[in-house]
Order: sequence, then C-alpha cells, then structure tokens
Amino acid sequence: MSKVLMVGNWKMNMDKSSIKKFYDSFDKKDFVDGVEVVICAPFPYLGTIAELSDKISIKVGAQNMCNELAGAFTGEVSPLMLRDFNTEYVILGHSERRQIYLESDELIAEKIKIALNSGLKPILCVGEMLEEREAGKEFEKVYKQLLAASKCISLDQWHNVVIAYEPVWAIGTGKVASASDAQNMSKYIREQVKEFAGNEIAENLRILYGGSVKPSNVKELMECEDINGALVGGASLDAADFKSLWGTL
Ligand code: 13P
Repeated sequence: MSKVLMVGNWKMNMDKSSIKKFYDSFDKKDFVDGVEVVICAPFPYLGTIAELSDKISIKVGAQNMCNELAGAFTGEVSPLMLRDFNTEYVILGHSERRQIYLESDELIAEKIKIALNSGLKPILCVGEMLEEREAGKEFEKVYKQLLAASKCISLDQWHNVVIAYEPVWAIGTGKVASASDAQNMSKYIREQVKEFAGNEIAENLRILYGGSVKPSNVKELMECEDINGALVGGASLDAADFKSLWGTL
C-alpha cells in the first residue's frame, strides 16, 4: 500500500498572516518518507500556498470547484484555474457542501468527472448523518453516494481517486467514530469499489477517515487495516497539532 495521506481541510478559516505563521513553523525535517501531506485552502490563498508549499513537501488542494470548465458561472471556480495554481487535489462532496449548499449526489458525480478529466485528484467525501446511523442505515447511505460517483469514474481514472469517510455527526463535534466503526465502514467502501472497479483498484484505493481527528486519536485510527490516512479540519489549523498527527505514527 502507498503512503499515509494526511489532508488538512482549512474550510473557511485562516488569513494571510496566520498562513505565513503556519508555514514558518514547518521545516523540511518535519516531513517523512511514508507520509504525503496536503493542505486544502480557501480559493484566494491557493496561489500563496502553492508557492510556500513548494519549498517544503506539502501538496496543494482546493475544497470545491465548478462542474464546468469556463463560461458564465458567476462566483464559480473552474478546475482549470485550480490546475493553473498547481493544485493537485480537490475535496468534493463534503457534507458541508451537501447540506448547506444542497449539492446532490449527481452534481458531485459530475464534478468528480470533470476534476479527473482536468488532471485533478478528487477526494470524494461520503458519510451518514446521526439519524441514519441510529436507524442502522449508514451503509445504505454511503452506498448511494459511492454508486452515484462511481458511474462517472472510468477504470483508468480510479487510481487518482481518494475516498474520505466522514460521518457527519463526528465533524467538528469532538465525537470521533470508534476505530472499529471507522474500520468497518472503510472496509465496506473498499468492498464496494471492488464491485465497481475490480480487485486491484480496490486494494490500491486510498481511504481516509475524517471527523474530529486529533493528535490523541490519530494513531489508533491509522492502525486500522482499511484506513490509509485522515481528512482533518480543526487540528489542521495549528501547525504543531497538524504535524504531530504524523509525528506520532
Ligand atoms: P474536524 O476535524 O474539525 O472534525 O473536521 C473534519 C472535516 O470536516 C474535514 O473535512
């Protein structure tokens, strides 16, 4: 299996001076061979972080993009614009986009397709709400999200796809999923991808866990067989917390 993938999702946080302070706290020796580190920043800072990230081995990611390449889409950002700033990854289908901005499975699938066709690596977020888990419907919900996306991914593109399991009830709440719940869902995701795309693709697929990941719980989660990294919100805003996520592995 490939490297551990640690992705920071800054959401709508940070500013010019906190970004400088964040990057100043990193040194080349903070990075290790077996860990790939990505920061997904707000659009206006992508150019800045692309320059700063180049000097230390952090890769650049965005948090969303348009499902079109160019044209009359006021307020939107094209995948080609993201590529212009050396953006390698893009988070798609985050639960905040699904819930607050009402993005559907179909729209997210379209975005996945255009991201892949534009040379970006989508990080597709899937996960259930608390009521769905309480009703025993978490696998059904995740299956629906995976199925819609899988229809837009061709077999030769799967190696560029990352899937993040983010149970909505664990995001920003301090309530982390137990390692066994996170592992069970990650295993389920891998099994479904095996059905969609075959054994080899499923075995090599990178599956992240997201939802209240912190230095105190990361090790247990990363030891799970089917979890290959983390998608981190709050703990990625502070350089010391963020680097300690892989420093302890
Ligand atoms: P927190 O780590 O703050 O719970 O956020 C998780 C998340 O939504 C990452 O995309």
